[in-house]
Amino acid sequence: NPAIPLPADIFPGRANSAGLDLAHQPTRAAVRERLAELAPRQWSAGEGLAGMKLPIVSPTDGSQVGEVTLPTRAEIAMAFQLAEAAQPAWDALGGDKRALLLDAAADLFEEHTAEFISLCQREAGKTLPDAVLEVREAVDFLRYYANEARAHFTSGVPLPGPTGESNVLRLHGRGVFVTISPWNFPLAIFIGPTAAALAAGNTVIAKPAEQTPLIAQLAVDLCHKAGIPAEVLHMLPGGGEIGGRITADPRLAGVAFTGSTATAHAINRALASRDGPIATLVAETGGQNALIVDSSALPEQVTRDVVASAFQSAGQRCSALRVAYIQEDVADTMLAMIRGAFEALVVGDPAQLATDVGPVIDEEARAKLEAHVAARQAAGNRVWRLPLPPECANGHFVAPTIIEIDRIGDLAEENFGPVLHVVRFAAGDLGRVIEDINATGFGLTLGLHSRIEDTRRFVEARARVGNFYVNRNQIGAVVGSQPFGGEGLSGTGPKAGGPHYVTRFATERVTTIDT
Ligand code: SER
Repeated sequence: NPAIPLPADIFPGRANSAGLDLAHQPTRAAVRERLAELAPRQWSAGEGLAGMKLPIVSPTDGSQVGEVTLPTRAEIAMAFQLAEAAQPAWDALGGDKRALLLDAAADLFEEHTAEFISLCQREAGKTLPDAVLEVREAVDFLRYYANEARAHFTSGVPLPGPTGESNVLRLHGRGVFVTISPWNFPLAIFIGPTAAALAAGNTVIAKPAEQTPLIAQLAVDLCHKAGIPAEVLHMLPGGGEIGGRITADPRLAGVAFTGSTATAHAINRALASRDGPIATLVAETGGQNALIVDSSALPEQVTRDVVASAFQSAGQRCSALRVAYIQEDVADTMLAMIRGAFEALVVGDPAQLATDVGPVIDEEARAKLEAHVAARQAAGNRVWRLPLPPECANGHFVAPTIIEIDRIGDLAEENFGPVLHVVRFAAGDLGRVIEDINATGFGLTLGLHSRIEDTRRFVEARARVGNFYVNRNQIGAVVGSQPFGGEGLSGTGPKAGGPHYVTRFATERVTTIDT
């Protein structure tokens, strides 16, 4: 295998993964060579399982990338039995030892960057820069939660003993945790909650999104290779039906779910109506993310950040910008600049380095987005669309789109793709704009472009969102720097990649000893 240079030694002491330097020509050449070697390979997930086999197809061109085998009911039951039996020993291992294994997995993930990039492109349609970021984030989650395991799960915390007794508080795993993850971050958000649950001393049954089991399988194989026992970490691929069976099991102690708000509600109901321990739910769900641009904003910066926030990753990030509120005094100028940059976007094969916008995940997603655009056109809204190049004919591509609407409340739901809505607002209406945004009930990301300190304070004091970004784009939260997650319809918290995350996967026990 050609070695791909890692820029890690350029940043000694840096806690986060340095990823690959795609501006460095020899790195690009080595990545391309390795990806070409991997291209003919067929991947499989769920090996060893006995259920139905399904093909996994590329969203870019419909070609078969590999296949997945679904678990039978008996195999699901066996996974719970093994995970339950293994949990006490995994918990007793302690945070330090679990951290060593998670760190070893992080190192293996970095070594297998090319395989992950290949799968991110072929199975999930990710562009090369997005695939590199995906691997970095996955590695960051593993190392961050390893550190959390060391910090909080190695020794107990002594507490005051007012009558001379000794009191020690210790954190433990809750039992068997189920993680259910999305296709839009098929590696990072598959491994993030899984690593957190493991760090806290739980055993895990991980269900990746039905569209992206191959990446998850490689991740699980590498975790096992790093020394995390097979009884401690199980992967059960499949869709909603498998998810439904898993979340109904009375043996689970908690679920970490990332996906739609509707599914989070359904899981919550399933957990409430089953027997067994009262389960914890950690849910990261959708957003109706807005950006407010006032007349003091810098147009070039706004243009760059709007285009990145709305169209990078084909708009398939829960953090992505959906509705840009632009002060009407500057709206025509800003919109002309945004459309200029928008028209320069390259849509097409994510394997090409020049591509900015790849496909959406599947036909269902494409059809839903097209129906939304058609409905807005029929309603008389102004719509701008990019032409789709002929190479997009066999894939699930949606032409990047900008639509002018009157207010955020006109949107019935989150439009999870490369569709940006624009609203004009009058200078004195900022308070109402924030009320409208809050009234959606979502609370994930909010952007503000303004050079006025009082405006920043005004918005910050009123916005009910988990991540507020000022004078920058609103995607790509960095583990350890921008803990990520929302409130209301956007999730339960705690925030991924933040200091309060892992402890949510734990239970607390206090031992009191009188002499
Ligand atoms: N964590 C991702 C981001 O910040 C969203 O899922 O873009």
